Amino acid sequence: MWCSVSDYIVRECVAGDEVALSLVAQATILETYARWVRGANLYRYVTEELGEELFRTCLEDRAMRLWAAEVVPTGCIVGYAHALRDTTDPLAMELKRLYILHNFRSLGIGKRLMDESVSFACANASQSMVLRVHYRNEAAIGFYLGYGFQTIGEETFAAGDETSRVLVMRRDLPVL
Ligand SMILES: CC(C)(COP(=O)(O)OP(=O)(O)OC[C@H]1O[C@@H](n2cnc3c(N)ncnc32)[C@H](O)[C@@H]1OP(=O)(O)O)[C@@H](O)C(=O)NCCC(=O)NCCS
Repeated sequence: MWCSVSDYIVRECVAGDEVALSLVAQATILETYARWVRGANLYRYVTEELGEELFRTCLEDRAMRLWAAEVVPTGCIVGYAHALRDTTDPLAMELKRLYILHNFRSLGIGKRLMDESVSFACANASQSMVLRVHYRNEAAIGFYLGYGFQTIGEETFAAGDETSRVLVMRRDLPVL
């Protein structure tokens, strides 16, 4: 391991981060799902769904938040989290993404990004946090279980002509 825990900061994302966020989002999705989803479908998904324009729009929307882990002193973003109001339950916050490039895992970045997301949800009076994770993504599922998430159901997720099973996980949040 070549990156010590003092070599990064976690901060809220701002306008201008969209290029870096798009690159990291595309890279981490490829890195994570190359084991389970065909390349053509993954390439189409990341280019159509995780482009700069998507992140530019998200960064302008104050109802949602993104946080980045950035290496010091290079300023390279190597991980991010994205939280937004759940579309079906107005009292829940969805942790839409939490992704860290492989070389920067197990350094405490995931915890920092999770803490930011939970704080934002609590500050917005959310009573729970929900997320969706590929059913074979055991590492992420283990991480989420450690934060008190429990599986409450299953859904399907389409990328191109391929459909994957995803677990829906949820945890209660403390009432402030
Ligand atoms: C899952 C992920 C976000 C975890 O982030 P990370 O930076 O590696 O995790 P941290 O170093 O912050 O670990 C925080 C805590 O979670 C625990 N943890 C990390 N990975 C774990 C796992 N696979 N199983 C159980 N616990 C785990 C750590 O031991 C640590 O516990 P501690 O605070 O008691 O020491 C990261 O590995 C990742 O980006 N994975 C690939 C992308 C992905 O699958 N994202 C989720 C898609 S839904």
